[in-house]
Amino acid sequence: MRRPVIAGNWKLNKTVSEAVELISALKPVVKDAAAEVVICPTAICLTEAVSAVGGTNIGVGAQNMFHKDSGAFTGEISPVFLKAANVEYVILGHSERRQYFKETDADINKKVIAALNHGLKPILCIGETLEEREGGTTFEVITTQIDGSMADMKEMNLDNLIIAYEPVWAIGTGKTATKEDANEVIGFIRKLLRERFGDKVADATRILYGGSVKASNAKELMEMPEIDGALVGGASLDVNEFANIVNY
Ligand code: PGA
Repeated sequence: MRRPVIAGNWKLNKTVSEAVELISALKPVVKDAAAEVVICPTAICLTEAVSAVGGTNIGVGAQNMFHKDSGAFTGEISPVFLKAANVEYVILGHSERRQYFKETDADINKKVIAALNHGLKPILCIGETLEEREGGTTFEVITTQIDGSMADMKEMNLDNLIIAYEPVWAIGTGKTATKEDANEVIGFIRKLLRERFGDKVADATRILYGGSVKASNAKELMEMPEIDGALVGGASLDVNEFANIVNY
């Protein structure tokens, strides 16, 4: 049985004091969740967020990191710094990173390997654009992204890996993939994992859906057999909405 993960991607929202306030409000309303609950605030909030969630069932994740441990890389943070701050998860390859910061599958691959090597739980994001979906190339795009961002990982322990399927056209648009479409692509991702990494990895890896998840559609998505949770953007900024997703 794969335990569902519900992760909130706060993106560039919530200052430190706002983050601490949101966490205080969140703690009591998600405390009985069956799912694994994760929040991903901005890098500057991580330390405070880790103390604020202390002793609760809420885990903390970063939204990005560089693959090197340390050195002359102005503006970056690394897996070593995340571990030292007791951060547990890290979102990697989010479509906004790919689109605005030109991250490639090869960049993301280095980050995923570094995260796993440092004992972090990467949430690797993949997904097709609207053009790609309409052009009928969704499955090719997904295959390229999996092969590129998971290159040279055959010998690695992938127990900590989480994947998020986020169709780019569904992110922040209010358009959710139908539960059937999301389930189909996630099933396809699992098939790729089975072919490339074997049954154990395919059966154990949590694959989340992301893209305009809200309280009103969370349950039907989560009930699909291939969908193991959600990566939630906009709706994770509202305590009640996020709690209702977590407690679907
Ligand atoms: P959204 O974002 O829920 O606001 O669509 C999802 C994401 O970007 O992870």
